[in-house]
Amino acid sequence: MLRRVPPSLRRALLSSASTHYGGAQIPNPSHSPSQTLLPQWRRHASVASSSAPPQSPPPPSSPRGPSRSGGGGPTVSSPNPAEVAKFAAIAETWWDANGPFKPLHLMNPTRLSFIRSTLCRHFRRDPYSSKPLEGLKVIDVGCGGGILSEPLARMGATVTAIDAVNKNIKIASIHAASDPTTASIEYCCTTAEALVKEKRLFDAVISLEVIEHVANPLEFCESLSALTVPNGATVVSTINRSMRAYATAIVAAEYILRWLPRGTHEWSKLVTPEEVSLMLQKAAVSVEEMAGFVYNPLSGEWSLSDDISVNYIAFGVKKSETPSTNCT
Ligand SMILES: C[S@@+](CC[C@H](N)C(=O)[O-])C[C@H]1O[C@@H](n2cnc3c(N)ncnc32)[C@H](O)[C@@H]1O
Repeated sequence: MLRRVPPSLRRALLSSASTHYGGAQIPNPSHSPSQTLLPQWRRHASVASSSAPPQSPPPPSSPRGPSRSGGGGPTVSSPNPAEVAKFAAIAETWWDANGPFKPLHLMNPTRLSFIRSTLCRHFRRDPYSSKPLEGLKVIDVGCGGGILSEPLARMGATVTAIDAVNKNIKIASIHAASDPTTASIEYCCTTAEALVKEKRLFDAVISLEVIEHVANPLEFCESLSALTVPNGATVVSTINRSMRAYATAIVAAEYILRWLPRGTHEWSKLVTPEEVSLMLQKAAVSVEEMAGFVYNPLSGEWSLSDDISVNYIAFGVKKSETPSTNCT
């Protein structure tokens, strides 16, 4: 269920009608992007825009969280203090499989399967070996309590994991210390931007369910790219800004099922697949594969899908010729 994104997609995206978003030129939904996109992407665009939202979110009873700091034009990509406060408030619950992070626990095997398969293909590893990521330096940006970092370490990666919330890092470190395989994870309360300044580089930069919480998504993508070695991998997952996402990921998950605390996701801050592709493209990362995650309420399981209208994950490759000053 992995979808390859051909290089020509990037040209098509860049030539499509655009609007300003955190500094990135992105397709303007009102310009019907499917008219300018490749057939393969048109299916994505039609899925996303069939539920295509107007630029203002649907009328909530009050499902919106705090406003993005700095109003419409923040210049600091991360962290967003209001978002940091939200996660600090529930930090104790990271490893409670029935707590607020239950959806992430349930999604974990599926997103790991995407990461394993894309990274193994890219780095020419055997996905069936016990430690397919052995020798790869991987960073988990916005790691929370470490529910993704730990299995990455078990797959053999040398893992650095960072989060803007100190309580998350403390909980992640304590949890990882109980197992020798995960005790080697380097946990640090910091931001991607700070590590860019330190000129840190990684073979794979992974940031799942974080971009929708940062103050400036484009600058965040630029930092993820700057942390990635040339020809390295960048993986981002998030929630689409679609009406379906509003209905399921916000209204159902936060208000009906109460999986997540109300206000966890702010609809207007969600990012579409086209926007992620363009922001990464602008940051010298080409999105090569994309997949959706769909939830089966009967089995309670998530699976990979072509449907990227709600939850999706993108795998990109950092261009080898880059003007980045951080590469040595
Ligand atoms: C929804 S959780 C996702 C956690 C983890 N990536 C996962 O999927 O299991 C978002 C995490 O991003 C962190 N976060 C938010 N903004 C951040 C930023 N600018 N830099 C680093 N971490 C950030 C939050 O503290 C929180 O732990």
